[in-house]
Amino acid sequence: EKAGYKHFMAKEIAEQPVVIADALKRYVQNGALHLPAEVDFTAVDRLTMVACGTASYACHVAKYWFEQIAGLPVEIDIASEFRYREPPLSPKQWALFVSQSGETADTLAALRYTRDKVAKIVAVVNVPTSSIAREADLALPIMAGIEVGVASTKAFSCQLTTLALLALKAAQDRGRLTPESLAQHLSDLAAIPGLMNHALALSTPIAAIAEELAEAQDVLFLGRGAMFPLALEGALKLKEISYIHAEGYASGELKHGPIALIDNRVPVIVLAPRDPLFEKTVSNMQEVMARHGKVLLISDAQGVAEAGSDCWKTITMPQVSDAFAPILYAIPAQLLAYHTAIAKGTDVDQPRNLAKSVTVE
Ligand code: M6R
Repeated sequence: EKAGYKHFMAKEIAEQPVVIADALKRYVQNGALHLPAEVDFTAVDRLTMVACGTASYACHVAKYWFEQIAGLPVEIDIASEFRYREPPLSPKQWALFVSQSGETADTLAALRYTRDKVAKIVAVVNVPTSSIAREADLALPIMAGIEVGVASTKAFSCQLTTLALLALKAAQDRGRLTPESLAQHLSDLAAIPGLMNHALALSTPIAAIAEELAEAQDVLFLGRGAMFPLALEGALKLKEISYIHAEGYASGELKHGPIALIDNRVPVIVLAPRDPLFEKTVSNMQEVMARHGKVLLISDAQGVAEAGSDCWKTITMPQVSDAFAPILYAIPAQLLAYHTAIAKGTDVDQPRNLAKSVTVE
């Protein structure tokens, strides 16, 4: 069942170009968005997104899309906090629950909390027969196929793809998109599977970097904008399977505390495509290097050419649209965690203390 791969995680990382294309095929037809008729954001004034772990980081990435492209305010909660906080909800808003398994106890309980308090409960799930899918008003499958590895990989990128399409639908319904800019976004998304194949080909150089990363005690991940939640996801992935302590930060937050951790033993992984915020990130990187931190810059050819020369290591990614870069950059984040775990000899598919589906509070 591992189809020749050593681990389910490796197989699931490699499947991403195909499953993302599947999600796109389901929700985009004849060059137009093709979501169920109930997905109509015209009267929606706010979106509350609730999830745990990796699924919650997918929500944090999607918040940038809903807010920047659709102008729709988004609030995000971790499911275990949500219902105890007793958040005020409006009858005009939607609540959206993201879960690979559809069985996460906290997410399910949060969904039940919103019943009769919001206009619509939407589930973005991988398992269409799951409790969360069944109890929602509408379930949108992410098309990732069965995910076995405890560390979520292809579910994350399929969650992102499905949420990106939902954000585009919101933008369309709210009159925020010209037909031309919608077509441009859809063609940017359609390019992702092909770009992912190029990113997957970086596995060998990433494995070489991971040999050295495996020596670290602490690793920081930095990103700005929608790459910030990807930094959180990269850190979670590394923690889960290699047991190395890792934290993700917004690049601009570094000097408000975490920079105190930097010395020549701390690798700092900077997720920074050459986008309009790149120069700001470069100045944060320089602050790290001035304190002898070891920077691994993950960027495109232009970014590496402009800022890579003093870095400890660089990974050159294919060029990608600014908005959807986090979907593509999930690949090097996942591969780094995977190869670091291999270098450490930990159990990649069944990390200690973790379960695939957390069905208790
Ligand atoms: O099945 P769910 O998406 O609801 O699971 C949520 C989290 O438990 C899950 O994403 C967890 O953080 C993964 N182990 C991350 O790799």
